[in-house]
Amino acid sequence: MEYITLKNTDIKVSRLCMGGCPMGGYGWGNVQENELIDAVNKALDIGVNFFDTAETYGLGQSEITLGKALGSRRDKAVISDKFGVHAMKGQPTFYDNSHDYIIEACEGSLKRLGTDYIDVYTVHYRDGKTPLCEVAETLDELKKQGKIRYAALSNIHEDDKAELESLKGRFVSFQDEYSLACRKNEKEMLDFAQNFSLTPLTWGSLGQGILTGKYNLDNVNFGADDRRSREIYVNFHGEKLKKNLEIVEVLKKISAEVGKSVSAVAIRFILDFLPDSVVITGIKRPSQLLSNAEALDWHLSAQQIKMLDDISK
Ligand SMILES: NC(=O)c1ccc[n+]([C@@H]2O[C@H](COP(=O)([O-])OP(=O)(O)OC[C@H]3O[C@@H](n4cnc5c(N)ncnc54)[C@H](OP(=O)(O)O)[C@@H]3O)[C@@H](O)[C@H]2O)c1
Repeated sequence: MEYITLKNTDIKVSRLCMGGCPMGGYGWGNVQENELIDAVNKALDIGVNFFDTAETYGLGQSEITLGKALGSRRDKAVISDKFGVHAMKGQPTFYDNSHDYIIEACEGSLKRLGTDYIDVYTVHYRDGKTPLCEVAETLDELKKQGKIRYAALSNIHEDDKAELESLKGRFVSFQDEYSLACRKNEKEMLDFAQNFSLTPLTWGSLGQGILTGKYNLDNVNFGADDRRSREIYVNFHGEKLKKNLEIVEVLKKISAEVGKSVSAVAIRFILDFLPDSVVITGIKRPSQLLSNAEALDWHLSAQQIKMLDDISK
């Protein structure tokens, strides 16, 4: 199994992380709890030990399902959890990184996960008012209490750099959207990884599913309960969809050459192109986990990387 050690830690994680957004139970079409639980266990069986969730996914449901799935195997898993999106049914959602909110959010997440500690506790979104050094202090408090092991960031951008300068080493990783369908964050991600001592974790790594090779112009009519029916999920709409299907054609060609799934080739591109990265993919069932895990322990040739780089630039 292909592992890396997260920056500034002693935590070894598989370079594939199982994304827990579908475990929230809504917004991804048909999702079955038993299949999610089987997928988590299949992951552990084959050595995929990294699981991402957030308090906001299904308003806590994702954490509940992950905790239930891990059960007595909790110590074999590295849990990445996220806080800071204050969402309650029927009320407007807002970002909150205040001290009291973080302390309360962590208690809730620990309870739902059924664990004593979270390995990597992540600021899901900055709230625009709490200075990052204050957030880091609150997270230090949680570390001292043994409730979290490490702190991490997500969706950080250029204007966060000044604050991060004096906090190098206090955070271990950052999450951002990156895939063959979305390369706009590439330069910034390389910069954060190289100059701020952070492990890059990519989300939307399969372009929300378009890069798996199973979609075409005729079968992307998602139900109203699937987030991808909304135009904000650009990968499935208009010209962007057509462009993505051109990328998929190249992925299919390489998939046939290397004898791996189309998703595996899309994931391998990230693993080979973004040094020391971890790829998070949303997973709904064991077959998706296994197909995505085919991405590990091999490399694309320089020519295959160039073909994918050229078509997705
Ligand atoms: N930090 C953040 O702000 C942030 C934001 C978004 C996501 N995330 C994290 O990143 C994870 C992944 O991102 P994402 O869920 O947006 O998108 P993604 O990984 O690009 O796409 C996931 C979807 O692709 C389909 N899929 C996955 N593997 C497949 C396979 N082998 N064969 C066929 N279909 C497959 C599944 O949906 P269908 O079967 O329905 O097609 C799955 O739900 C999330 O679960 C979450 O943990 C973090």
